Amino acid sequence: MAQIGAVHSWYLGVTLQLILAAILHQGFATVTAPPTPQTTTPPHTEPGKPETGNYVVKTSNGTVCLKASMGLQLNITFTSVSKNKTVQGVVNLKPNGTATSGSCDTDSATLRLQTSEVEKTNLTFIFVLNATSNKYHLNEVSLSAAWPDMKKPISARNSSLDYLRGTLGYSYRCRNEQTLDVSPDFSMNTYQLQVQPFGLKGDQFGAAEECQLDEDDMLIPIIVGAALAGLVLIVLLAYLIGRKRSHAGYQTI
Ligand SMILES: *[C@@H]1O[C@H](CO)[C@@H](O)[C@H](O)[C@H]1NC(C)=O
Ligand SMILES: *[C@@H]1O[C@H](CO)[C@@H](O)[C@H](O)[C@H]1NC(C)=O
Ligand SMILES: *[C@@H]1O[C@H](CO)[C@@H](O)[C@H](O)[C@H]1NC(C)=O
Ligand SMILES: *[C@@H]1O[C@H](CO)[C@@H](O)[C@H](O)[C@H]1NC(C)=O
Ligand SMILES: *[C@@H]1O[C@H](CO)[C@@H](O)[C@H](O)[C@H]1NC(C)=O
Ligand SMILES: *[C@@H]1O[C@H](CO)[C@@H](O)[C@H](O)[C@H]1NC(C)=O
Ligand SMILES: *[C@@H]1O[C@H](CO)[C@@H](O)[C@H](O)[C@H]1NC(C)=O
Repeated sequence: MAQIGAVHSWYLGVTLQLILAAILHQGFATVTAPPTPQTTTPPHTEPGKPETGNYVVKTSNGTVCLKASMGLQLNITFTSVSKNKTVQGVVNLKPNGTATSGSCDTDSATLRLQTSEVEKTNLTFIFVLNATSNKYHLNEVSLSAAWPDMKKPISARNSSLDYLRGTLGYSYRCRNEQTLDVSPDFSMNTYQLQVQPFGLKGDQFGAAEECQLDEDDMLIPIIVGAALAGLVLIVLLAYLIGRKRSHAGYQTI
């Protein structure tokens, strides 16, 4: 008897999980994957998602003053030697082939990434802190790249950016893919990004401020959860009412 009960509840649990998974999957599918059929094949071999790298800048006394964890994908428009035309080169930054340097001041922090691999690239991020509002943001990105297939080296710089906005003492996080446009010829896709350019406690990130894309994602499970809780409540009420009725039934006999 007890065995039958256990099997029964196991079966019920699995069924419930399947229903939950189906609901969640449907919720995500409708939101994240608009049905746009891919008719054109990409001109290049897409490199897939980049590996997440951990980059740290220290002050002269060894204190960590800037910390970043992210997967970086570069998207550069250049004239290809092999194809003899303008192409979009999409390349992932390989963390273990990337040298990190930089510096920190009270109101600005610089992260420099340099790759010595085949696709030679220098990438600089400058964050600024507004001491009045205690807010920071990514203000400048500059790039220089000398890839084997480039007809000539490429450089790009934009010092009027307003990306990755956060509050002093907090880190900025965006788990979703995010595109940062720097110049007409250069953009970056970031993956699993978390960065804190100011006010680190020790070498750890402060509490994270989530980007809008991530917050939108979190909303769906919350709505589904609330709906399920409502359903459970209704079933419970129905059960209680049913039991009361049957009690009443016994009493009249
Ligand atoms: C390191 O220098 C920073 C200022 O540049 C200072 O705030 C911090 O206390 C120093 N840390 C140590 C361990 O000396
Ligand atoms: C690269 O940039 C071009 C033009 O800005 C864009 O059309 C393309 O979708 C981008 N590719 C990726 C993988 O981000
Ligand atoms: C490259 O293309 C241009 C025109 O687009 C042409 O004049 C030139 O001869 C081509 N060079 C090579 C090496 O194919
Ligand atoms: C980087 O990692 C790849 C494989 O993950 C390895 O083949 C390569 O030797 C590594 N390079 C360095 C400089 O550690
Ligand atoms: C800093 O923030 C304050 C308040 O939001 C603003 O008035 C001021 O213009 C900002 N300063 C700079 C240099 O952006
Ligand atoms: C990157 O910077 C280093 C040092 O400043 C320089 O020697 C190198 O040529 C640069 N690489 C590119 C691709 O611009
Ligand atoms: C710099 O970035 C801003 C904001 O994305 C853009 O409006 C501006 O055109 C860019 N400037 C250059 C020189 O590409």
